[in-house]
Amino acid sequence: MTERIVVLGSNGQIGTELVTALRRSYGENNVVACDIRRPDYDIKNAGPFEFVNVLEKDTLNTIFKKYKPTQVYLLAALLSATGEQNPKLAWDLNMNGLLNILDLALVYKTAKVYWPSSIAVFGPGSPKEHTPQFCVMDPNTVYGISKLAGERWCEYYHQKYGLDVRSIRYPGIISWKAAPGGGTTDYAIHIFHEALKKQSYSSFLSADTELPMMYMDDAVRGTIELMDAESSKLNIRSSYNFAGVSFTPEVLAAEIKKHIPDFKLSYTEHDPRQNIANGWPKSIDDSYAVNDWAWKPKFDLATMTADMLENLKNTK
Ligand code: SER
Repeated sequence: MTERIVVLGSNGQIGTELVTALRRSYGENNVVACDIRRPDYDIKNAGPFEFVNVLEKDTLNTIFKKYKPTQVYLLAALLSATGEQNPKLAWDLNMNGLLNILDLALVYKTAKVYWPSSIAVFGPGSPKEHTPQFCVMDPNTVYGISKLAGERWCEYYHQKYGLDVRSIRYPGIISWKAAPGGGTTDYAIHIFHEALKKQSYSSFLSADTELPMMYMDDAVRGTIELMDAESSKLNIRSSYNFAGVSFTPEVLAAEIKKHIPDFKLSYTEHDPRQNIANGWPKSIDDSYAVNDWAWKPKFDLATMTADMLENLKNTK
């Protein structure tokens, strides 16, 4: 069967690369990129694009009617740091956007839905090291609250209506193509740009703030592998813990220094993102992903750093 795939939020950090990967696998015309903004990237020339606001039900209905998608990826969201600046908007977009898609997927019998969750579903009461799939979850950002509630809705739609909805709790995603969108983990991308431009960077997270991260290539591959997995093998219908590599700003800077020996890292104090990071895990136990769909990351800190610097140098 030919897949027809709709990606909502296609212009964001993940959407930009996911659309390209999906078009490579399923054919350019079978992947419809949708966003509220016109795309700057290859996406606009390489296949169908539609303007869509996931809060506008009529527009969404038109898209489902027109393309009858077999798969929908909903990536449109406000992230942790931006969400704190506009909590009500973050809740509205993250929650009602999801409910709109889940309902339309039932009406149009969409075979599979993908929706990302985040490590932000954990909070100060969750274990910090190798945070398990099931534990205390007390998110203290509106982003984390919306993702945790969204996970419960995904599982509810699966159990109650049989909807095949799949989800991953993304860690901080490191990439060079599109800019990150207002997250707490964004320092780990800015640092590469500034290292190449100025040989120095001031981190808004402290030297020893360890967070779970992942290189974009792994995140995109893992996402598509989850969507390709046999439904009966998937034991988690809320959202899967998903691990790549964990590091602190200090450790990342030391790795960058191997390539740019003059690189200097300093720290900005009293940034509100520090408080968000303090409530998040340091590392993740992703054994359900490993057991259910054979998840395995390819990039470690050294290979990720080398690849980031190489690609950013070539795009300057
Ligand atoms: N990268 C995201 C953020 O920092 C985590 O899901 O908000």
